[in-house]
Amino acid sequence: MALLEISPRFESWRSRGAGRKRKLSLFEEVEEKKLLGTVNLVRNPYTKTPYSERYFEILEKRKTLPVWQQKDRFIDILTQNQIMIVIGDTGSGKTTQIPQFVVEAGYATDRKLVACTQPRRVAATSVSRRVADEMDVKIGAEVGYSIRFEDCCGPKTILKYLTDGMLLKEATSDPLLERYNVIILDEAHERTLATDVLFGLLQTTCTHLKESRPDLKLVVMSATLESEKFQGYFSGAPVMRVPGRLYPVDIFYTEFPEKNYFEAALRTVVQIHACEPPGDILLFLTGEEEIEDACMKIRNEIRNFGDHVGPVKVLPLYSSLPPSVQHKIFESAPPPEKEGGPPGRKIVVSTNIAETSLTIDGIVYVVDPGFSKQKLYNPRTRQESLLVCPISKAGAEQRAGRAGRTQPGKCFRIYTLESFRDHLPSQTLPEILRSNLASVVLTLKKVGIDDLVHFDFMDPPAPETLMRALELLNYLGAIDDDGNLTEMGMLMSEFPLDPQMSKMLVVSPKFNCSNEILSITAMLSVPNCFLRPKEARKAADEAKARFAHVDGDHLTLLNVYHAYKENGEDPSWCCENYLNIRALQSAVNVRSQLARIMNRHNLKMCSTQFTSPQYYPDIRKAIVTGYFMQVAHREQSGRYLTVKDNQMVHLHPSTCLDHKPQWVLYGELVLGSTECSSIRMVTDVKEEWLIDIASHYYDMSNFPQCEARRALVRAYQKREREIHKLAPEGKLESRISLAQGKGLRYIELGFAAKEADRRVQFSALLRIFTSYSEFLQATAFYLRASRSSMSPTASGIILPEAISRNNEMNSGHRQHQGSYYQMRYTRGYITEQRNEFGTVFILLSRVCAVSVLLLSVSVLLLSVCSWRWNVERVLFSAML
Ligand SMILES: Nc1ncnc2c1ncn2[C@@H]1O[C@H](COP(=O)(O)OP(=O)(O)OP(=O)(O)O)[C@@H](O)[C@H]1O
Ligand SMILES: [Mg+2]
Repeated sequence: MALLEISPRFESWRSRGAGRKRKLSLFEEVEEKKLLGTVNLVRNPYTKTPYSERYFEILEKRKTLPVWQQKDRFIDILTQNQIMIVIGDTGSGKTTQIPQFVVEAGYATDRKLVACTQPRRVAATSVSRRVADEMDVKIGAEVGYSIRFEDCCGPKTILKYLTDGMLLKEATSDPLLERYNVIILDEAHERTLATDVLFGLLQTTCTHLKESRPDLKLVVMSATLESEKFQGYFSGAPVMRVPGRLYPVDIFYTEFPEKNYFEAALRTVVQIHACEPPGDILLFLTGEEEIEDACMKIRNEIRNFGDHVGPVKVLPLYSSLPPSVQHKIFESAPPPEKEGGPPGRKIVVSTNIAETSLTIDGIVYVVDPGFSKQKLYNPRTRQESLLVCPISKAGAEQRAGRAGRTQPGKCFRIYTLESFRDHLPSQTLPEILRSNLASVVLTLKKVGIDDLVHFDFMDPPAPETLMRALELLNYLGAIDDDGNLTEMGMLMSEFPLDPQMSKMLVVSPKFNCSNEILSITAMLSVPNCFLRPKEARKAADEAKARFAHVDGDHLTLLNVYHAYKENGEDPSWCCENYLNIRALQSAVNVRSQLARIMNRHNLKMCSTQFTSPQYYPDIRKAIVTGYFMQVAHREQSGRYLTVKDNQMVHLHPSTCLDHKPQWVLYGELVLGSTECSSIRMVTDVKEEWLIDIASHYYDMSNFPQCEARRALVRAYQKREREIHKLAPEGKLESRISLAQGKGLRYIELGFAAKEADRRVQFSALLRIFTSYSEFLQATAFYLRASRSSMSPTASGIILPEAISRNNEMNSGHRQHQGSYYQMRYTRGYITEQRNEFGTVFILLSRVCAVSVLLLSVSVLLLSVCSWRWNVERVLFSAML
């Protein structure tokens, strides 16, 4: 890779307002000396102990921040207004200082907190740690943070940093946000989905419910905000501007547009390392794959320089990395290899999660190629995809603002000044205009906002997107035909999950598999657990194949979870099997948190007995209850078409399915580089489950003409024939009363069946049962139970009580498509392993059976021949 001449190729441009370094006033210096002289006398009011030296060190720096100068003005405006807007340059001290000013002004009490939201988890955790340091308290005590599946707050917490999503979740159970006195919505320019909904909710709470929460204060903050728009939205709330930043940032543009931003960005990073004075580098790229590739290439390239340059620590940063790996970016740069040698450098390669709020100590150089991945939702195809798009001017300013925080900085933009001026939009399109709104609608319904059309969104979403969300929730049973939240919807909204996932979790006890669905949900909620390092791809794929389940990826995840538990959560076992230990640790944590929510709402934890042939089908059926709208059908031509939308898709290469089932359910539709999208997280499902579980969606009266429709019509006809056979008039009733006598759990069946004639009975049953197959099972059981005095478990239907009684060590086996699987059941965890010996045994037994068959046929033929020969001989001799 040829080195790039930085200076001639980049055109220098000093940002407006940058470069203003404030000096302390004489008065402040005197104050400081006084303070330093009485270090040991000053006690921390929170811990009641003397302040540490570090406190005073940081205090000195805090006093130089532009926001510090405006402290009194800020408190004045806050006292006089219910809502205010703060716009201050990046690094001026908004996130770290303003919440502390609010606390110091007495707005936080032991019963009512001050909350400061952040759009990203990494920002919420790192900023709260910094503020805890600044206040000289322990994180989790007076200052805490709350992010999805991690709450680090305690009874003493008065200042809480949390993601906007978490505050929105809290608003569902406490719509007036009674726990808080002041809410600070930080990085408002990001216009995330949760922040926009919070705007609407808080706007309603503060403006229209002045009587209910006259004490609630709202502060909206950002560095790059459209102030008029926000002022208009918040009924003329005052704007406080905080100009200036601590250190200047020089901005450089390329002279000519770059053909390949990736290559150009890498060249720039390598050249900075080779030519520029000490200081760490932050490079922005678009996604995980690109970042990992860049990290590897940068390491290799710098290695080629040998001793001429200092050592580097290249660190990736993207949202699916576990938090502990993400926090490595805050470690310091490596020391020089030998004394007096060139200094080491830290190089962070990140997505736009490092674009706002973060202060990474030591970052001097920012390299900005001007692209990021953005979520886009197409309500017509119900497809949400991530596309690489140019960033906005606001985004570019935020990126540059990551430099110059702890020392002067430089930002290299891999695009021209003309591109910046003329081609970049001033703001990014708000997320609410490009997202699936199902979760948002469920949240708003829970909060009690019924009229979504007139809800005060800052930028109202497209009606079609809202319709799609309502449609999905209605199909899932979360809202009724009048748009009111149902009991199912209430339960679903308790979980911090997508509506589809919460639905499968809520109904899982009905399928006797809540333990398993909980594990699958936890695995789906954490980063991908399968590692695939470039240098060991084959070994990693082989390791993954050991967990592969024939029925698809969801059950493969279950296998991984069970195996991890069986192996005592052993990190070295994870390493051997190319599994991401941190993802699995998070899955265990997430599972226990979700289990707590289930427990709170009396959702039973149960499993079908693993030796039962129903063990896996039950789990797959429960998954269908959530994802029945995400199904594809294999056409005769071999390609897959999604149901109803008829989009052509193919199975994602990461799938564990080694065959192409007729029907597959998928978790995600991934937009590919070709015209055909692919479906990820795929499970083989049966058409009868689709019509049993979601007959309201698989309704033939509004199903487009296609091969899938014809297959479904056949399935409906088959089922009609079955019901006629199984439930001839009159007979069912007597079986039901028998079942009632035994106190079984399928009693509702009787009441439904009693009055109805056979056709009506069929639809009535569907409403009461989770599925028709459950009904079939129940009926089959009644038939058997009426014939014999078998116990419930022995006759094929496993009752949850029987499972919990049977919770000790157990083992079993099953056959599937010619393979032999051995299963072990240990205190709630079930593992299944393909047994090669058993498989060979099955093969041998089949070979033996075929040989015996062939032998018998040959013997038969021989005897017929010999008989004929004998007869002919007798006849011949008789003729003679
Ligand atoms: N973890 C940290 N380590 C060292 N200095 C820090 C740290 N966090 C903050 N600072 C200092 O405090 C200053 C203000 O940080 P803060 O996050 O409050 O700025 P901000 O105005 O919110 O910026 P932005 O608009 O980029 O979010 C930084 O410029 C930096 O000098
Ligand atoms: Mg900030």
